[in-house]
Amino acid sequence: MIIRKSPAELEKMRRSGLLVYKILQDLAAMVKEGITTHDLEVVAEKMIRDAGARPAFKGYYVPSAGSRYPFVLCTSINEEIVHGMPSSKRVLKKGDVVSIDTGVELEGYFGDSAYTVCVGEPNESVRKLLKVTEESLEMAIDKMRPGNRLFDVCETVEKHVVSNGFSIVREYVGHGIGTSLHEEPQVPNYVDRKNENPRLKEGMVLAIEPMVNAGKPDTKVMPDRWTAVTKDGSYSAHFEHCVAVTANGPWVLTRP
Ligand code: MF3
Ligand code: CO
Repeated sequence: MIIRKSPAELEKMRRSGLLVYKILQDLAAMVKEGITTHDLEVVAEKMIRDAGARPAFKGYYVPSAGSRYPFVLCTSINEEIVHGMPSSKRVLKKGDVVSIDTGVELEGYFGDSAYTVCVGEPNESVRKLLKVTEESLEMAIDKMRPGNRLFDVCETVEKHVVSNGFSIVREYVGHGIGTSLHEEPQVPNYVDRKNENPRLKEGMVLAIEPMVNAGKPDTKVMPDRWTAVTKDGSYSAHFEHCVAVTANGPWVLTRP
């Protein structure tokens, strides 16, 4: 069942969304050669606690990993797709393609967002990977209108990515979000005919999160049991927003 949120609940999700936005903005300003992903983690955790919020990822149990995720951020670099773990040993260098993903719970409601940036100037292929992935999210956001269907969102991401010669990660998907980090429905970045294709209705909120590989779609999980990487070592990008369906169209909760 897809839980629809009242206008008052959407206002609460908006507050979580704007906190996530502020954190990601501040972290973006820190991303430079020489800093570590642990430096980002420290700042993010302080901002979350100072806001009276709770990190949504830290302590979150993921069955496939068999443990609770230990950090407030996922920092996934280059061939890492998602669930890369912050570390004081991971020093950013020029040309690194860094995805930063975080979530918070504020007054019982969750927000979740991610983006990918290059340290220093991206080369042409990285520039295109980031551009196409972000565009695919924006185009999917525009489908978040009453009367459209879930597959319209999924198909929009898939078509844009594939027509630009990149590939869609299939093992990790977007999700509904609200009083839990992950609610129904799953939001794959491709049309999965095994799934239901519900009509989008006012008050539904989806975390749409295209994960796009420059090379082949295949993934594997590193021995740490969390970090998902591309099998072929190609770079991967990830952008995410929480988006509400409203009578007036899409409302992106995770940006102003
Ligand atoms: N944005 C990702 C998701 O919604 C990150 C989750 S990290 C986890 O699944 F630790 F919470 F799993
Ligand atoms: Co998410």
